[in-house]
Amino acid sequence: MTARKIKNDVFHVGVQDWDRELFDELIPLNEGTSYNSYFVKGSQKNVLIDTVDPSKTDLFIENIKSLGVTKIDYVISQHAEQDHSGSIPKILELYPEAKVVTNQKCKEFLKSLLLIDDSKFITINDGDEISIGNKTLQFIFTPWVHWPETMSTYLKEDKILFTCDFFGSHVASNELFVGQKKERVIEGAKRYYAEIMMPFRSSIKSNIKKIENLEIDFIAPSHGQVYDEPDIIINAYKNWISDDVENKVTVLYLSMHGSTKKMVERFIDDLTKFNIVVEPFNLTNMDVGKLAISLVDSATVVVGTPTMLVGIHPNVAYAAYLFNALRPKTKFLAVINSYGWGGQATEQIKGMVSSFKGEILPPVMVNGYPKVEDIKMIDSLAETVFKKHKEIRIA
Ligand code: FEO
Repeated sequence: MTARKIKNDVFHVGVQDWDRELFDELIPLNEGTSYNSYFVKGSQKNVLIDTVDPSKTDLFIENIKSLGVTKIDYVISQHAEQDHSGSIPKILELYPEAKVVTNQKCKEFLKSLLLIDDSKFITINDGDEISIGNKTLQFIFTPWVHWPETMSTYLKEDKILFTCDFFGSHVASNELFVGQKKERVIEGAKRYYAEIMMPFRSSIKSNIKKIENLEIDFIAPSHGQVYDEPDIIINAYKNWISDDVENKVTVLYLSMHGSTKKMVERFIDDLTKFNIVVEPFNLTNMDVGKLAISLVDSATVVVGTPTMLVGIHPNVAYAAYLFNALRPKTKFLAVINSYGWGGQATEQIKGMVSSFKGEILPPVMVNGYPKVEDIKMIDSLAETVFKKHKEIRIA
């Protein structure tokens, strides 16, 4: 890799991680990822905005050196997570005059996670500005995108907003700008939003209000490409965080001996007749990212589970845990269950989704293989879902 120019003495000096397959040891990265860092050369001071994952420090240093940088005055740390902060210690070693500029909360995290000495910090408040000569950096606190300390930085003269995880996407690419590939990039950004940002929907609403009145030519996140048309990602986020849902049902299911599968298949057929989009996920082998994307705008989630070890199947419990943690804007939830001698699936799932604020529909609990009367209950559940979707005017 090499340093790439965005605009007037502003360069991307980050690194692509083409081969990374998992993030947080959980999220599959189908297209790798990038750790974006930006170098800003002012007439008086040089600034680095974020660094890169410690596994890529050497390449990162090469990129900085390719610009002939002999002095770094400020390292702005917008987020303490190590994929952005992990190379700060090496920068401080190579450029001992550099100070880490960040907020109080981030400073505490960096001291704890990276053992950076207190004397190395300059602490700033929300809205503060620093001048680097011919350029001015303004700090805008944007908490909970993704940790409580996350902030953005606005380079006023060049109208560039650096947002760290906010508006990011996990993709490795040597194309610096989004350019014409808007649809593909928004698809990746939706996956990233679903997996990482969705639980913080209400914080994102206030953060967008804080930045949307700025004049922005570029949004430069710390993962993925630079947005040369910022409106596309701001508008996509506004849609995802709104309370609007689609005429869609996400079905999370698993079947051991075919009973649950039989009911799920009937349910999908029923919904199809009602022109409701269905996205089924067999939890035997699920892609967490695809499931999360489906949850971004589904009106209804239906969980289909057999009974195992006197409870719901462990894979279903895992999916229910994720649903609860991701806090989607789902309006309706229902359970389809096949049991032998213990039918507590609905109660168990209810107990696992405490963050869900929508309506739980009557479950379909079936002893053994579904019989004619059981199939009628499935038909009735589909009809209930259709009526609920009509009530909220999406069907
Ligand atoms: Fe890309 Fe929350 O770190």
